[in-house]
Amino acid sequence: MSYPVTRPRRLRRNRLLRDLVGEASLDVKDLIYPIFIDEAASGRRPVESMPGVERIPLSMVEEEADAVEALGIPAVLLFGIPARKDETGCCAYQEGNVIESAIKKIKARRRNLLIITDVCLCEYTTHGHCGPIKGDTVDNDATLDIIAKVAVNYARAGADIVAPSGMMDGMVHAIRSELDFNGLKDTAIMSYAAKYASAMYGPFREAAGSGYTGFDRSSYQMDSRNSDEAMREVALDIEEGADIIIVKPALSYLDVVYRVKKEFGVPVAAYSVSGEYAMVKAAASRGWLDEKKVALEMLLSMKRAGADMIITYFAKDIAQTL
Ligand code: PBG
Ligand code: ZN
Repeated sequence: MSYPVTRPRRLRRNRLLRDLVGEASLDVKDLIYPIFIDEAASGRRPVESMPGVERIPLSMVEEEADAVEALGIPAVLLFGIPARKDETGCCAYQEGNVIESAIKKIKARRRNLLIITDVCLCEYTTHGHCGPIKGDTVDNDATLDIIAKVAVNYARAGADIVAPSGMMDGMVHAIRSELDFNGLKDTAIMSYAAKYASAMYGPFREAAGSGYTGFDRSSYQMDSRNSDEAMREVALDIEEGADIIIVKPALSYLDVVYRVKKEFGVPVAAYSVSGEYAMVKAAASRGWLDEKKVALEMLLSMKRAGADMIITYFAKDIAQTL
């Protein structure tokens, strides 16, 4: 009878040993908290499909920033819900738009908080697509002209990082060159380089008021089957000047997170999307899952896969736990 010589359980005997050999870790400094700012609202509006998430009126943006900062969360990701929409989404860069106002309010006081702004038009178009429509799809190049102006508007207002999420070809180049042309060389670009046409964005549409009509987004967002294609998207965005690469959604695409980190070695953000949050909340509300433990395990899996940072609606809850 031969006994095992190597016994991995030796290092699992107690907490101290486990901590000593622990590999991946989750820190509050890795978290980015998304905030929805509702131009037309006068009070906080709960998002039904995302318990704990609210749309914030402009008048309460500062107190929200205070709360996030107090928890030690280093960054917020801002989404705007404008009072008025049109066919092209041009309201997104109009002077005094909802995000420009929100940035200025947050920046009015010196803070330990980075401002990242989502740059996309779907919350600003009447049809809910990520740019103006031509024929049966989104007009790529017309969209580039608009989002470049949006990025400049946000960067001028004080955004530290702009995050284009529309999956338009050439979006990083368009934004980088317009930022540089306007003297905004230090504004970083966090590109949603590998963003999939996913069914996991459902609850976000209630949160951001951006339900689309007419056709789905498969003509611009990526096909779930593909990861080699994701590497090509990432390579292009890096070449065009992206500073940070986002993989979205996170949980169903950890192989993509892993490959981006391994193959490119650039800063990677995993976006744990609204559906990932809603699934856990729904199961936990029925007592079927331990919410905190599941959330921690999910977020840790993203770090283990290679993510440097995580965009998550759990950020505030988890910051309190960590
Ligand atoms: C806008 C955008 C979306 C998300 C982030 N930016 C929605 C979409 O593409 O349908 C999804 C976020 C989430 O589900 O949490 N382009
Ligand atoms: Zn969009």
